[in-house]
Amino acid sequence: MTVLTRNDYAVRAIRPDEWERVKELRLDALRDPIAHLAFLETYENAVAQPDSFWQERAVRSGVGSTTARQFIAEAPDGTWAGSVTLLIEEGGSEDWAGFPVERRQGHMVGVFVRPEHRGNGLIEALFEAGVAWAWEREAERVRLFVHRENARAQAAYRKLGFEPSGRVVTFSKDEAETELEFVLEPQP
Ligand SMILES: CC(C)(COP(=O)(O)OP(=O)(O)OC[C@H]1O[C@@H](n2cnc3c(N)ncnc32)[C@H](O)[C@@H]1OP(=O)(O)O)[C@@H](O)C(=O)NCCC(=O)NCCS
Repeated sequence: MTVLTRNDYAVRAIRPDEWERVKELRLDALRDPIAHLAFLETYENAVAQPDSFWQERAVRSGVGSTTARQFIAEAPDGTWAGSVTLLIEEGGSEDWAGFPVERRQGHMVGVFVRPEHRGNGLIEALFEAGVAWAWEREAERVRLFVHRENARAQAAYRKLGFEPSGRVVTFSKDEAETELEFVLEPQP
């Protein structure tokens, strides 16, 4: 088997007409053994959605949208090996949990690398693309939430320069569990 390195992947934003591939990758992510910790959406919910749900998602986060952008990493054989999505949150608005957003910021969601492509630096290439787009959109920081028990993701985020902000929120799927906010500030 050929071992791929991060430079073997083409990282790019998705186009709205690629909604079927967006759906396929997301459904695979939602079947990952740790999907129950990693994602708020469930496989059962997502698989029951009509095509229009995926079409709208691909428009909302595809090339042409200024409020969100999904980046994918394409392997040489055309497989979509991983993905991240950047949401732009405006200062003065409220976030998904109803908390005030003080400054314009990027919010990274849907972070996923297929198991057979993990550990080869691909996540770094995806984050570089996502974070660069956030700075281009004049975000003042980039944040994400990670489950307290998701040690592998936390280790990956720290390597990428993210640090816990100290903010802890209830995990919406189970009020007994928590998620940590990790933040990346721009380099001076
Ligand atoms: C999170 C994810 C995108 C990270 O990508 P990756 O390619 O696995 O990341 P990396 O291997 O570069 O980095 C993970 C680090 O954690 C380490 N690690 C692996 N398992 C670990 C564990 N159980 N506990 C702590 N650290 C762990 C790895 O050794 C690696 O560090 P190293 O490079 O210093 O050895 C990927 O694992 C994934 O898709 N996971 C499932 C979905 C998910 O959890 N998404 C995040 C939602 S917030």
